[in-house]
Amino acid sequence: MSAPFRVALSSDFRKADGSPVYPDFDLEPLRKAPNVEFAYLEPRNPVEAEQLKDFDALILLGRRFTKDSIHPNSRLAVVARFGVGYDTVDVEACTRAGIALVITPDGVRRPVAVSIITFILALSGKLIDKDRLTREAAAGFARRGEYMGMGLIGRTLGSIGIGNIGAELFRLIKPFEMKLIAHDPYADPKLAAELGVELVGLEEVFRRSDFVSVSCPLTPETRGLVNAERIALMKPTAYLINTARGPVVDQKALTEALKERRIAGAGLDVLEKEPPDPDDPILKLDNVIFAPHALCWTDQCFAGSGAADIHAVLDVQHGREPRVIVNRDVLESAAWKNRLAGFRKRFAG
Ligand SMILES: NC(=O)c1ccc[n+]([C@@H]2O[C@H](COP(=O)([O-])OP(=O)(O)OC[C@H]3O[C@@H](n4cnc5c(N)ncnc54)[C@H](O)[C@@H]3O)[C@@H](O)[C@H]2O)c1
Repeated sequence: MSAPFRVALSSDFRKADGSPVYPDFDLEPLRKAPNVEFAYLEPRNPVEAEQLKDFDALILLGRRFTKDSIHPNSRLAVVARFGVGYDTVDVEACTRAGIALVITPDGVRRPVAVSIITFILALSGKLIDKDRLTREAAAGFARRGEYMGMGLIGRTLGSIGIGNIGAELFRLIKPFEMKLIAHDPYADPKLAAELGVELVGLEEVFRRSDFVSVSCPLTPETRGLVNAERIALMKPTAYLINTARGPVVDQKALTEALKERRIAGAGLDVLEKEPPDPDDPILKLDNVIFAPHALCWTDQCFAGSGAADIHAVLDVQHGREPRVIVNRDVLESAAWKNRLAGFRKRFAG
C-alpha cells in the first residue's frame, strides 16, 4: 500500500480553537477520499517551504505563496487557490518548479457578479443614505426628497474586463435594460456580441458609463489603470465600482475626485491596503459604500470554491490534469509530468 496523497490547508481556514473559519467549505469529500490525508498548516505568511515538505497539494486561502515557499524536495505538485485572484502567488516560481496553480472560477462567478449588482442597486437607489434618513425619524423623512435615486433604464454600464465575472455581470443585468459596454484587450468578440456588449476603448468606458465596474486581474499592466486622468473623464453623475483588486485603482486620485464630488460615488469591495488604516481619508467619505473584500462571501460562494479546489486536488491525485490551470506552461514541465505519472501509477489503478 503506497503512502497517502497529502493535502495541506492554509492556516487561515481554521480558527485559533481549531474549528473551521468557513464551515460552508465542506471537507467531507477530502475526508472520504481513499488514500488522502489532510492537515492545516501553522500560521505563517508567506507559507514556508519547511511547512510543505510532506505535502503533495496545498489549498491556499489568503496567505502568500512565494518562491521561498517551494521546498527543494520537489514533492508539492499543485497549489489550489480558493478563489480566482492569484496576485498572492508567484506564478513563475510555480511553473519553474513544475507546480500547477489552479483557481476556482466556477465558485466565484455568480457571487462576485451579484456583488457588483448589489453595489449598482445600492448606489443608484441611495440605499445607505435612506437607511440613515429613516433612523432620523421625522427629520429624516422631511429630507428624503433631497436623495433622489438614478433609474437604470437606458443608462450605461461599462466594465473593465469581460472575463468570467464581467461576462456574468452582463448576463445577470439584462432585464434592467441598460446599455452595455466593455474594454478588454483580450476579449472574445463573439462572446461580447452574444451578450449584447459593445467593445470600446479604455477611455470610452470612463467617458460614456454611468457605472464603471472593474473586473480585470491585478497585473503590472493594470496596476493604477484607474488613474486621475481617466477618473477625470467620468461624468459627475457616474459611479465607480471595484470588486477586483484595490491597486487597479489609484486610491488617492479616487479619494480626491469623490471628495470634490467630481463623480457621484463609488462602491468598493477592495482597497489599496487591506485592512485600511483607520485614518485613511477614503473611509471618511459619505459617497462611498464599502465592503471588507467580502461582499461576495456567501454560503454558496464558499461551498462552490471549496468543492472546485477539492475536485482539482483529487484530479491531481489520480494523475489527471485539473480543469482550470493558470500556468498552462507547467504542462510541458518534466517535473510536473513525472509527478502526475507517479500519482497515476499509485492512485488511479
Ligand atoms: N472581491 C472579491 O472577493 C473577488 C473575488 C473573485 C475575483 N476577484 C477579482 O476579480 C478579477 C476578475 O476575475 P475573473 O474571474 O473575471 O477573471 P478572468 O481572468 O476570467 O477575467 C478577467 C478579464 O480581465 C481582462 N483583462 C486583462 N487585462 C486587462 C486590461 N488591461 N484591461 C481590461 N481588461 C483586462 C482579461 O482579458 C479577462 O477577460 C480577479 O482577477 C480577482 O482579482 C475579486
